[in-house]
Amino acid sequence: ETAHGLALGALNLGLAGGRGAVTSARLATTLAGLALPNPIGVSAGFDKNARAVDATLRTGVGFCEIGAVTPRPQYGNLRPRLFRLPEDEAVINRFGFNNDGMAAIHRNLMRHRRDGIVGVNLGANKATEDKATDYISVLTRFHADVDFATVNVSSPNTERLRDLQGRAALDALLARVLEARDALGPLPVFLKVAPDLTEADVADIADVCLARGVDGIIATNTTIARDGLRSANAREGGGLSGQPLFERSTALVRALARRTEGRIPLVGAGGVASAEQAYAKIRAGACAVQIYTAMVYQGVSLGARIAEGLEALLAADGVASVADAVGVDL
Ligand code: FNR
Repeated sequence: ETAHGLALGALNLGLAGGRGAVTSARLATTLAGLALPNPIGVSAGFDKNARAVDATLRTGVGFCEIGAVTPRPQYGNLRPRLFRLPEDEAVINRFGFNNDGMAAIHRNLMRHRRDGIVGVNLGANKATEDKATDYISVLTRFHADVDFATVNVSSPNTERLRDLQGRAALDALLARVLEARDALGPLPVFLKVAPDLTEADVADIADVCLARGVDGIIATNTTIARDGLRSANAREGGGLSGQPLFERSTALVRALARRTEGRIPLVGAGGVASAEQAYAKIRAGACAVQIYTAMVYQGVSLGARIAEGLEALLAADGVASVADAVGVDL
């Protein structure tokens, strides 16, 4: 965790170098109406407090997502709460929505000049009974200053949060959040789901999202599964991310794409460490891809390298644009 904080600080000081977003006619694409220079983004949890938004975008990625942000500042769980699983190219975290709270994080965001696409991951304080009120508070605070907001009902580290993925609870939650969004003005609202869902859960979630008009689904958050791990830290509690999550989360993209018949844009997250894996998510139905854990092992320039590699893969296949590759494996 300390190393991560230092890496963010270094990134912010410009030590990782700077460049514009990697882009080309082939890589430029849209996600729920947002124009992305390329489809590779940095996912939530990397820059929880919006300390390095500009610097993150300067690494060459097409978009980033800050947060999770909760209304009030929150310490999260006791340290240690972040574990590397090097043999598995994975990490386990049980942070529990540690963040500086929406007022401070909004000030941080406003301090950075920004021209790229930035979203906010909406969280809820541990002590809040009615989680919807927290999502709406954070949405209201950031609405004018972000390009999208993500309703995160999939963190395994806040008790009972994932219960909000159940059909009735999800429908009630989305009705309230989207009503608040409508009152504030246009802004794409995404739902971020867990990888640990049954086929019936996936069908329910897809149907509710279609009925409520959710603008996109991010699949997936971290997993509580622990199959086939070799590292010493494998038994730590929390959410597992990185390579062991790749197949599971890609299967969920595929299932959601099939169920929604391409009518809801999907963002693929989970275990992407190479251009080939980003391409696989897109071919499974994702319009865009997010990365996090692989950056822990391969550095902050990974997003740019993946975007450049994706350009080459698309060119080799004679594909004119990212959008043409979305869902071709289905
Ligand atoms: C996360 N992730 C996450 N997701 C989210 O919606 N809100 C959050 O606050 C966080 N926090 C967080 C912290 C840490 C340390 C990690 C490793 C992950 C989940 C993340 O955004 C992503 O969905 C998963 O990690 C899967 O992608 P990767 O890491 O396998 O590329």
